[in-house]
Amino acid sequence: MTATEPAAHRIDTTRPHPARVYDWFLGGKDNYPVDERLGQQIMSIDTGAPRAARSNRRFMQRATGHLAREAGIRQFLDIGTGIPTEPNLHQIAQSVVPDARVVYVDNDPIVLAHAEALLRGTPQGVTQYVQADAREPHTILERAAAVLDFGRPVAVSLIALLHFIADEDGAHDLVDTLVDALAPGSCLVLSAMTADFEPENVRRGIAAYAAGGVTLVARSHAEMGRFFQGLELVEPGIVSVKDWRPSTDGETEGEGPVSLYGGVGVKP
Ligand SMILES: C[S@@+](CC[C@H](N)C(=O)[O-])C[C@H]1O[C@@H](n2cnc3c(N)ncnc32)[C@H](O)[C@@H]1O
Repeated sequence: MTATEPAAHRIDTTRPHPARVYDWFLGGKDNYPVDERLGQQIMSIDTGAPRAARSNRRFMQRATGHLAREAGIRQFLDIGTGIPTEPNLHQIAQSVVPDARVVYVDNDPIVLAHAEALLRGTPQGVTQYVQADAREPHTILERAAAVLDFGRPVAVSLIALLHFIADEDGAHDLVDTLVDALAPGSCLVLSAMTADFEPENVRRGIAAYAAGGVTLVARSHAEMGRFFQGLELVEPGIVSVKDWRPSTDGETEGEGPVSLYGGVGVKP
């Protein structure tokens, strides 16, 4: 870090950051004591938090595999990418479609620090990283257009991102702006936290994040559905991430609820 480095690119180790707490839940090394403390606190409320993070990650993998294999998607815009955890989205997409074009977006400087790992794709494909805030979708679309052709189908994914953006902070404007920019045949992939399955644990988890300075919102099934208005939901619709086209290769999602809804919609 240098004195001239912009503040937005500096890693703040004095307060927890969502990307790093999530990394801690996934057993990663790219987190700080302040992140581990919040992670431990969440664990004292709900010991299932790491399982939920893994389950969410597998949802991303299955949804991306489905889009590349069955929906014919060749272009991906992933917003709220997180610290790289293999396999990353571009690895899944490019293993099916070697020339797939992928743009990653995150606003956390720690993800920027790891961007190099995210950019190692196939020689035929393109993988790019954009440091931007999801609440500025026009900037994201403009920068992504250097790599993606928005005249053709693009899959936009916001996976475990929208619970950090409240409705009053523009969550719907963000999704609507992105979807409006997409060509027919494009897809929207979402996962986000819900209190529908474990209301008390989720309420206490939200309070713990709030005490750490992180806004977290839970959405009901109906509230999640509003994000997909005008789109055709792919089977099985909006369900707990663990139940979205579960893998048949023996991978187990474990017992009990996972408090994240996931879904995939197609723009007609
Ligand atoms: C829980 S992680 C999810 C990572 C990855 N999408 C996954 O599901 O495995 C949430 C990510 O969203 C990012 N994020 C949160 N708010 C954001 C915002 N306003 N703009 C861009 N990224 C944001 C965080 O930095 C973090 O990397």
